[in-house]
Amino acid sequence: MSMINDIERVLFSQQELQSKVTELGARITEDYAGKEPIFVGVLKGCFVFMADLMRAVNLPCQIDFMAVSSYGKGTTSSGEVQITKDLSYDIAGRDVIIVEDILDSGVTLNYLIGYLKHRNPRSVRIVTLFDKPSRRKAPVKADYYGYEVPDAFIVGYGLDYAEKYRNLPYIGILKPEIYE
Ligand code: IMP
Ligand code: MG
Repeated sequence: MSMINDIERVLFSQQELQSKVTELGARITEDYAGKEPIFVGVLKGCFVFMADLMRAVNLPCQIDFMAVSSYGKGTTSSGEVQITKDLSYDIAGRDVIIVEDILDSGVTLNYLIGYLKHRNPRSVRIVTLFDKPSRRKAPVKADYYGYEVPDAFIVGYGLDYAEKYRNLPYIGILKPEIYE
């Protein structure tokens, strides 16, 4: 069976995503004029978004990655965040932009922001492609976000369910029977 049979409907097409990411890149370019930010991607979900976002940013910049796990195989956060890959660079004095795929309960980013601030960056902001504000548990707000999404489990464009569907070029809502 093809992956496409697991998708209830397409929420954002490839073209819609591309123009939204271009828009976010332009805003960051404007806001960080004269600066040299470091983008810190939260693996693995960020990787498609971050690749496109970077190419929409016209600034000198660096990238780094962190990996955290809090989900296991489920569709809701376990609430416990573990760092499985740390930064490779010193971010002291730097303008950090955290790149996330989706801000859901906020537990992951709340933890990461605290962790990164301990390393004395000059500033920390968040860019996330998707925001599910209805599910927030921790007091986190994205500085830049692409779309607000409903409380449904979405996949594609880097976002997974049980490590699958990251390679879908669009965003789809997963059929609930896949994870129920
Ligand atoms: P939070 O700590 O609950 O905000 O978790 C955010 C992380 O959960 C995201 O970076 C995603 O990896 C994952 N996540 C949350 N909602 C979805 C979804 O609808 N589809 C895929 N992954 C999701
Ligand atoms: Mg993620």
